[in-house]
Amino acid sequence: MVKRACFVISILFVLGCTQPDSSQEHDRIVALASSIIPKPNETTVKADEYFEFNENTAIVADDQLSSLVGVVQGYLEELTGYQITKSDNGDNALILKLDEQLDEERYSIEVDKSQILIKGGSTKGVLHGFQTIRQLLITQDQSFVIPAMTINDEPRFPWRGLQLDCSRHFMEKDFVKRYIDLLALYKMNVFHWHLTEDQGWRIEIKKYPKLTSVGAWRDDGKGGKYGGFYTQEEIKEVVEYATARGITVVPEIEMPGHSVAALAAYPELSCTGGPFEVETDWGVFKDIYCAGNDATFTFLEDVLTEVMALFPSKYIHVGGDEAPKFRWEECEKCQQRIKDESLHNEHELQSYFIKRIEKFLNANGRQIVGWDEILEGGLAPGATVQSWRGFEGAEAAVKSGHNAVVSPTSHAYFDYSVDDIDLEKVYSFEPLPKGLTPEEASLILGGECNMWTERAPQHLVDSKVFPRILAMTEVLWSDTTNRNYQEFNDRVQTQYSILNKLGVTYGFEKNPVEVSSEVRDGELMAKLSSYDPNIELYYSINNQKAIKYEQPVEIQEPVTFDVSFKKNDIFYSDTVKQYFVPHKGVGKPIELISNYSPNYTAGGDRALLDGKKGGSNFKDGNWQGYWATDVEVIVDLGELIDIKKVQTSFFQHNRSWIFFPEKVEFLLSEDGENFKSAGIIINTIDAMEKGELIQNFEISAEGLKGRYLKMKAKSISKCPDWHEAAGNDSWLFIDELIIN
Ligand code: ACM
Ligand code: ZN
Repeated sequence: MVKRACFVISILFVLGCTQPDSSQEHDRIVALASSIIPKPNETTVKADEYFEFNENTAIVADDQLSSLVGVVQGYLEELTGYQITKSDNGDNALILKLDEQLDEERYSIEVDKSQILIKGGSTKGVLHGFQTIRQLLITQDQSFVIPAMTINDEPRFPWRGLQLDCSRHFMEKDFVKRYIDLLALYKMNVFHWHLTEDQGWRIEIKKYPKLTSVGAWRDDGKGGKYGGFYTQEEIKEVVEYATARGITVVPEIEMPGHSVAALAAYPELSCTGGPFEVETDWGVFKDIYCAGNDATFTFLEDVLTEVMALFPSKYIHVGGDEAPKFRWEECEKCQQRIKDESLHNEHELQSYFIKRIEKFLNANGRQIVGWDEILEGGLAPGATVQSWRGFEGAEAAVKSGHNAVVSPTSHAYFDYSVDDIDLEKVYSFEPLPKGLTPEEASLILGGECNMWTERAPQHLVDSKVFPRILAMTEVLWSDTTNRNYQEFNDRVQTQYSILNKLGVTYGFEKNPVEVSSEVRDGELMAKLSSYDPNIELYYSINNQKAIKYEQPVEIQEPVTFDVSFKKNDIFYSDTVKQYFVPHKGVGKPIELISNYSPNYTAGGDRALLDGKKGGSNFKDGNWQGYWATDVEVIVDLGELIDIKKVQTSFFQHNRSWIFFPEKVEFLLSEDGENFKSAGIIINTIDAMEKGELIQNFEISAEGLKGRYLKMKAKSISKCPDWHEAAGNDSWLFIDELIIN
C-alpha cells in the first residue's frame, strides 16, 4: 500500500504537480479518511489514488446550490489558499449536486483522480458531505489530497444539538461563530442558544432597553460590572452564519423562572415588586415572573415578537425549568389567577403560563420546546419536551404523542467534570429510552449536550465540550448498534491533529490524574498517576517552575501543588490544584463513629488524615460529606504527644444544602476511654451567607498532651426555615483534621 502510494506520488511529481509530502503523509490522510467522526454509514477508501486540489480546481454546482457555493469557496480558500472558482468543466473539480431522491440530510461522496462528487438530499446534505472533505483537509498544508473513496451516509436523528449558556458567562459573538463552525464540522445541526438567566440577559430587545442596560450586567465582586449582550445586528449575523452552514439556531428565553436579570430591569413583572439585582450567585432563585399579572404576558409576547423576527427557527425554547412556586403561593394576583382559571395548584399555574405562551407562538407559526418541568401540571398541546432529569421526561412526552429531545444529566451535561461524565460515558449514551413502540421512538427527535457555564467562562468552554462532543455527535448521527469504544477512541486520537490545527483547547477523556498521598518513613509523599501513558505530568509547588513528575514528591510543609498535563507537545488548559498539609495525624488510624455518605466519600476512611486538603470545589475528592448527621471521629496518634494546635475545615454552600456545623469540639485522652474537652468552637457565620465558603475551626492547645483525639462536629441537620428546602435534611462537609 505504501509502495503504490509512492508510485503515484512520483508520477505526479514527474507531471509537475505539487509534490505531496511523503508516503507517510498519504498514509496519514488515508487513516484520517477512515477516522471520520461521526462515523459514516458506509465508507470505502482506496489508498492508491488521490484527488488533489490545486490552483486550477473548480467548483461545479447545481444552480439551487448557489448560496452554498460561497460558503464552500470560503472554507476552501481558508484550507488550501486557492481561490476555487465556479465552472462547468468537471475535470479537476469539486462537484456539488442535489439528488431529490435522497432524504434531506443524506449525502454521498465519490472521489477519484479527477473529481470529488458530492450529492445531497438538500443543501444540508451536500454541506455534510463537504464537511467530511473538510475534516480531511484541515491538517494538510503542503498538498491537499483526498484519497479515492466512496461514502454513503445519513444521520440517525434529526436533532443533534449543543446548548451553550451565554448568560452565566458571556461568550463573544466571534466565539459563538467559531462554535457554529465546529458544530458544522462534526455534523451537529442545532445550536441552542441560552440567552436569558438570573445572572444576565443577553439579547437586545428594542422595546425593553433596560433588559440589556440593567439586566446584562452584574456586580463582578471587584467593584465593577461583568456582562455583555448581543445587539440585534449581531444576532442576525450569527443566525445568517449558522443558516449558511446548515445549523438551526434555537433561542432560549427562560420563563417563568431563571428570570432575575429581567426582574432587576422590570421589577413590576415579579410577584413582590422587587427591587432586585442581577444575580451574582449560582443556583435556583425564588423570584420569578408573576403569573397573575397580565403585564407579564404582554411583556413576554413583545419580547418573543422581536425574538421571532431574529430567529427563523420553527422552535423557540421557553425554558420552564427550576421555577420555585414560593412567590406564587404568597401572591394575591397569582392566587386569583388560580381561582379564575379553575386551576388546582401552582404546578397547574405554571402549565397555564406555558400554554398561554405556546398559544401565542403557535399563532405566529412557531412551536415551543421546554425543559421537562413543563410536563408538570399538564403539557402544552404541541410542546416538545427536552428531557434533562433523566429519560423519564422523554418517555412521558412520547407516550402522550409529543416530540422529545433527550439530554440527561447522566450523559449530556458537559459542565460536569470528566470524573462524573467521561468520554466513554458519553459514548454509551443511548437516546432512545427502552421499551418504546416504533411510533413512540419516532417522536424522539434526538439529543443535545448541555454546556452550562457557571464554572466555565469562555476560555474554558473548549476543554469541557471537547472531546466529549465527538462521542455525542457519533451517538446522534451514526448507527451505533455495535458500538466499540476502543475503535471509537482510536478515531478520537486521530481527530486530535484536527483539533490542534483549529486551536481547540480540548480537555481530557477522563480524570487525567490521580493525586494521592502516602506516608514513607514518617514523611508525607505526594503521588501522581495518569490514565494515559502518553500524558506527561508536571507539577509546580507554590507557583514555582514546573517540574516533570517522575516519582513521589516529599512534602515537608503546607504547599499548593499544581499539576499540568502535556500530550503531543501541547499543554492542556486544564490544571489540577491540590493543597498538601503535613501534620502529626497523617496516616494515623482513625475510627469513624458516624458514617459519611456513599456519594461523597473523599476516598474513604483515610480522607481526614491523608494530608490532602479540600479546595474551593466541594466535589474535588477531598471533602467528605455527611448527610443529616453529626461527625464524630477518634484518632490514635500511637503515643502520648504534645499537641499545640488542632484544626479542621468545613464547607458551606447553602444553595447546595451544605452548612457549617453548629459547633465543633475537640477532646483528648491518654487511654482512649476517658476524654477531656480541649475546646469548643461555636460557629459564628450566618447560614444565609452566600457563596462557597470554607471555614477553619481550630483550637490552640498549648501545653496539652494526648494520645487519642476525638472530634465532634454538630450538624444543623435540617435546612433552615428561610431556605428553599426548609425542613429537608442538610449536608455537613469536612476535610482534613490537622494535628500539630
Ligand atoms: C437545567 O439543567 N436546569 C435544564
Ligand atoms: Zn404573582
